[in-house]
Amino acid sequence: MRNEWLIALAAVAVAHAEDLAFSPPRYPSPWAKGKGEWAEAYEKAVDFVSQLTLAEKVNLTSGIGWEGGRCVGESGSIPRKDFAGLCMQDSPLGIRFADYVSAFPAGLNVAATWDRNLAYLRGQAMGEEHRDKGVDVQLGPVSGPLGRTPEGGRNWEGFSPDPVLTGHLMAKTIEGIQDAGVIACAKHYIANEQEHFRQSAEGGFNISDSLSSNIDDKTMHELYLWPFADAVRAGVGSIMCSYNQVNNSYSCSNSYLLNHLLKNELDFQGFVMTDWSAQHSGVGDALAGTDMDMPGDVSFDSGTAFYGSNLTIAVLNGTVPEWRIDDMAVRIMSSYYKVGRDHHRIPVNFDSWTQDTYGNLHYYANAGYTKLNDHVDVRGNHAEIIRKIGSASTVLLKNVDNALPLTGAEKYVGVFGEDAGSNPNGVNGCDDRGCDDGSLAMGWGSGTANFPYLVTPEQAIQAEVVKNGGYFTAITNNSAIEQAQAIAKLASYVVPLARRFINVDGNAGDRKNLTLWKDAETLIHTVANECNNTIVVLHTVGPVLVDSWVDHPNITAVLWAGLPGQESGNSLVDVLYGTVNPGGKTPFTWGKERSDWGTDVMYEPNNGQGPPQQDYTEGIFIDYRHFDKANIEPSFEFGYGLSYTSFSFSGLDVQPEPAAPYTPATGTTGAAPTFGKIDKDASAYLYPQEINRVEAFIYPYINSTDLKAASGDPHYGWPAEKYIPEGAQDGSPQPVHPAGGSPGGNEGLYDIVATVSVNIQNTGSVVGDEVPQLYISLGGPDDAPKVLRAFDRLTIQPGEQKTWTTTLTRRDVSSWDVVSQNWVVSDYPKTVYVGNSSRNLPLKATLTLNS
Ligand SMILES: *[C@@H]1O[C@H](CO)[C@@H](O)[C@H](O)[C@H]1NC(C)=O
Ligand SMILES: *[C@@H]1O[C@H](CO)[C@@H](O)[C@H](O)[C@H]1NC(C)=O
Ligand SMILES: *[C@@H]1O[C@H](CO)[C@@H](O)[C@H](O)[C@H]1NC(C)=O
Ligand SMILES: *[C@@H]1O[C@H](CO)[C@@H](O)[C@H](O)[C@H]1NC(C)=O
Ligand SMILES: *[C@@H]1O[C@H](CO)[C@@H](O)[C@H](O)[C@H]1NC(C)=O
Ligand SMILES: *[C@@H]1O[C@H](CO)[C@@H](O)[C@H](O)[C@H]1NC(C)=O
Ligand SMILES: *[C@@H]1O[C@H](CO)[C@@H](O)[C@H](O)[C@H]1NC(C)=O
Ligand SMILES: *[C@@H]1O[C@H](CO)[C@@H](O)[C@H](O)[C@H]1NC(C)=O
Ligand SMILES: *[C@@H]1O[C@H](CO)[C@@H](O)[C@H](O)[C@H]1NC(C)=O
Ligand SMILES: *[C@@H]1O[C@H](CO)[C@@H](O)[C@H](O)[C@H]1NC(C)=O
Ligand SMILES: *[C@@H]1O[C@H](CO)[C@@H](O)[C@H](O)[C@H]1NC(C)=O
Repeated sequence: MRNEWLIALAAVAVAHAEDLAFSPPRYPSPWAKGKGEWAEAYEKAVDFVSQLTLAEKVNLTSGIGWEGGRCVGESGSIPRKDFAGLCMQDSPLGIRFADYVSAFPAGLNVAATWDRNLAYLRGQAMGEEHRDKGVDVQLGPVSGPLGRTPEGGRNWEGFSPDPVLTGHLMAKTIEGIQDAGVIACAKHYIANEQEHFRQSAEGGFNISDSLSSNIDDKTMHELYLWPFADAVRAGVGSIMCSYNQVNNSYSCSNSYLLNHLLKNELDFQGFVMTDWSAQHSGVGDALAGTDMDMPGDVSFDSGTAFYGSNLTIAVLNGTVPEWRIDDMAVRIMSSYYKVGRDHHRIPVNFDSWTQDTYGNLHYYANAGYTKLNDHVDVRGNHAEIIRKIGSASTVLLKNVDNALPLTGAEKYVGVFGEDAGSNPNGVNGCDDRGCDDGSLAMGWGSGTANFPYLVTPEQAIQAEVVKNGGYFTAITNNSAIEQAQAIAKLASYVVPLARRFINVDGNAGDRKNLTLWKDAETLIHTVANECNNTIVVLHTVGPVLVDSWVDHPNITAVLWAGLPGQESGNSLVDVLYGTVNPGGKTPFTWGKERSDWGTDVMYEPNNGQGPPQQDYTEGIFIDYRHFDKANIEPSFEFGYGLSYTSFSFSGLDVQPEPAAPYTPATGTTGAAPTFGKIDKDASAYLYPQEINRVEAFIYPYINSTDLKAASGDPHYGWPAEKYIPEGAQDGSPQPVHPAGGSPGGNEGLYDIVATVSVNIQNTGSVVGDEVPQLYISLGGPDDAPKVLRAFDRLTIQPGEQKTWTTTLTRRDVSSWDVVSQNWVVSDYPKTVYVGNSSRNLPLKATLTLNS
């Protein structure tokens, strides 16, 4: 059965050719069960929700409209219970649109640290800042995009194209945020891998609908869903459904994604919220598993909503069952209690739309003049962790004859390139950092925070050189070639900085090429031709092509510093001068040519006026899995990074562990519970007499007891069979998914099946960090030559040997079986590899398992 009903409700007419990918319907929407670590929160949520009226329940699920309140998204409030609306705020790297906050390194840099502890500390620090500004939900972290194509415009918001590296760091970031008392939001679910066509109305293309990412079941499980499973297992409170379609059904309307994969198989107990305007229907999305509509209006400030009044109406007319609205409310409140919002909550003390102290509470409506900003400084000592992650994430890509670290005895240091200096328009001078001026330390758009300051490379290197009694010149004009030439001749060491950015110069979100911008290659060549000790530093949002210059004999060192946040220059100086020995490893592959990746962004619609069809024909083979399979030599492989010391690996030991056999989950759930009593008399929900309606604001109330008139929807009252999918209203006990049964999937997937240990010795003369990486070959014809399964970051003293011990779970050695719809351990011979990059794996052993 096709789900045309979604399309009808979204009022977007599109004729689906029969041969397009489609998403099978899966109903009803699983209700929360409050098991395990959710038990106590669930109980509190049930108690709270049981006391609410229908309008109050609807308020919890409905946004009040774009720029209706202080936060980028707010739900309705429950004044009778003294319960303020929930505040959702960007971004994955700090707080967007607020003052006296920190600008943290991007997720991409966290990935480059390969350090779970740093991921946790950053999450916790960000959570504290959100908490102290009064935010309930931090809109991050990100594992969609995962990084299918290197040009993908928002890859930097997430971690790495490797699902295991991303999954571990997602989980730790979530734990950090939620331990600080704020709900995390894992986003964007799912396959939101490019910016082009994410919303049909954007970009001036004449297309009826958003792009459809068409993904097969195995690829979904083994690649894109994997980190979301880790997020759910880590207890994430909310998940954001994305703009794009999957198999021609919008993510927020797709019952297969939400009901089947997320809420049944992964047993997600929290709530699903929409991306901003990613909702395309009311009844349809509620039944498909969407619990909260953000920012709440059909389109920004339309004053109409898919939820709000329409959800009240839909419960009254019986299309959305009582148990479903109750489940939506309980899921939201379970997350609230789970992270301790009832203890940590303070009123919101900032405003997203102005930094003035006084202004209008309802920004769009120009109403409600009040004190908006208390200018609370929430930064604490977070500059320290930011500086630390900045240096820990710096990857040393080349270092000839110990060109680095610098000693401080350099007589004349020249620094070249716009990326070294300040933005002449101010550190936050471009809206949402959407320009390419001055040093690059953050991405753009909704993934940003305001810089409290930015220590530029120019400032930090100059301070160091001056301290050492040296001579210093910086040229931050990429076009000042003559001047650069003259200075490079004089200098004993030069550091050209090059950068790469997005959303400017015809780059519509996604990058249009992989070369450096502003002709940085010419600058690099100019400087390197004059100075035999040229150190290139790159701030980029992902891989760039380096082959035209990286082997220049005068380029003695290359550092990649990613998007390090506010302490950028200090973090760089720490590495340049050896205060910190670099231990970062590249979290993506650097190809020699764009075509090396085998995947690309779709820049032109390929389906006429219909939704562009992005077929993920490469399957699981993205990034290093593709380079390995196609045997392509990269410039720098996934996992690569040098150090100022050296390490040796020895003594690989792989021991199978006794594990109980894997048992598919069985049985059924209980029947869908309802909480409290819903008054079905429509007159109870009329706009209250005394209410002073704010313009374009979304309320749970109705204009009239004539529900059709109250809805204002011309299609109102269509016979249910036209748009209510079979079984969607059924609250009877439902079968448990065999691969499910507990948050993150079947508990047996996480049984330990092997212990692996290896000795790592620091064979050099300075202390350093090494990242042992364990890869597995699963051995089958459809499997990648190898996949990352475990890693750690160890600090080892010179001469010292450490034993790294790690474990493998059943999930680590399994493949998704599309026939049994479960994970299976295949009979193919399996091999374990350990080393310090995806292409330097000196140790290997056969993996034999007990069962
Ligand atoms: C998309 O279609 C493919 C091919 O039929 C199928 O394997 C997969 O499960 C579908 N996924 C979703 C989310 O509908
Ligand atoms: C719903 O939320 C709005 C906005 O916060 C509030 O004005 C209204 O009183 C709430 N309604 C109910 C029934 O609690
Ligand atoms: C978009 O395509 C439709 C269908 O071909 C056409 O009628 C319409 O004029 C086009 N609009 C624009 C702005 O090109
Ligand atoms: C109800 O939803 C429909 C779209 O399905 C929309 O056109 C209408 O304006 C909504 N009504 C209200 C009161 O928001
Ligand atoms: C940068 O250098 C070029 C070439 O010398 C020059 O034309 C341009 O005016 C300079 N830009 C600034 C902002 O000085
Ligand atoms: C790559 O894109 C940048 C930024 O739009 C542009 O300046 C540069 O010329 C492009 N490079 C190539 C090789 O097309
Ligand atoms: C390297 O730098 C030296 C100056 O130190 C210069 O003479 C030489 O030509 C440069 N080499 C290349 C290949 O450009
Ligand atoms: C660079 O050139 C200088 C001057 O000729 C020389 O002393 C120095 O050793 C050279 N450095 C490198 C790294 O080749
Ligand atoms: C990586 O491992 C090799 C040995 O296989 C060793 O020579 C090298 O020092 C290591 N590099 C780093 C940065 O740990
Ligand atoms: C409900 O009443 C308000 C205020 O009169 C009006 O703006 C709105 O359009 C009405 N909605 C519907 C669906 O009739
Ligand atoms: C019930 O209400 C919803 C929301 O307004 C509307 O879309 C739907 O058509 C209504 N269905 C019936 C059968 O009245």
